[in-house]
Amino acid sequence: MEIVTTIKDLKSLLGELRNEGKSVGLVPTMGALHAGHASLVDRSAQENDVTVVSVFLNPTQFNDPTDLEKYPRTLEADCQLLSEHGASIVFAPSVEEVYPEPDTRQFSYPPTDAVMEGAFRPGHFNGVCQVVSKLFGYVEPDRAYFGEKDYQQIAVIRRMVDDLQLKLEIVSCPVIRDERGLALSSRNKLLTSHELDIAPHIYQAMKDSRSMMNERSLKDTLNYVVERVNAVEGLQVQYYSIVDGRTLADIATWDDAESIVGCITVFCTDSGVRLIDHIKYK
Ligand code: PAF
Repeated sequence: MEIVTTIKDLKSLLGELRNEGKSVGLVPTMGALHAGHASLVDRSAQENDVTVVSVFLNPTQFNDPTDLEKYPRTLEADCQLLSEHGASIVFAPSVEEVYPEPDTRQFSYPPTDAVMEGAFRPGHFNGVCQVVSKLFGYVEPDRAYFGEKDYQQIAVIRRMVDDLQLKLEIVSCPVIRDERGLALSSRNKLLTSHELDIAPHIYQAMKDSRSMMNERSLKDTLNYVVERVNAVEGLQVQYYSIVDGRTLADIATWDDAESIVGCITVFCTDSGVRLIDHIKYK
């Protein structure tokens, strides 16, 4: 496994591999890797000759400087995990390497990027599109792998790929959960032990709501999840939205879209961590 920090070195390595006719998979990450990331790398290594993993804590997608400051940084352990999961190249650039000049590009894909996380974290998806479009430009992958945990992020990236007419496949990979159902996330490292104990209630409430959906209206189902999570001391729902699974537009009834997903963000009051999760209703 090669570790490179400059775009020039990355491109020169990839140029040689492309000349040998090798296919390339990209797994973009911000580091603090866990089993969820490992599953993306495993999948890419199965489907491509070469797997590039970027480890870059992208400042332009953080609208809250404290969130960026607190984000765990574990490059050495990340490289160890990546070497055990078949990564070929780790690209770990500095901020100056990626942004020698401020990136003034604006990406806007309403309603997909405007609702939910887009409304709570203004500029977040613009920053994601800035960095992901740059990574796609450096690596020119055949396939790029993203975790479905960030359901909205994948929907926004798909819009960007269509908009920029990029020739690559976006591969969305299933959420990896711990044994109690908590979706794995780099931010889980920041939870208190009490929060780790109560956080599985989030997925449990959504799962139970899915089994009742035939008897309840969409609005009642939504309220059920919000009330049940808010009843757990230490958890506060920031939003629970039941939306069209493709566009993420709001819907009013179960008949309003072919695919329907519930997306939640919960604020953990001790640590201040925001936990994101979702469930597919149909
Ligand atoms: O999902 C993430 O970790 C980040 O948003 C991504 C896609 C690596 C862009 O910085």
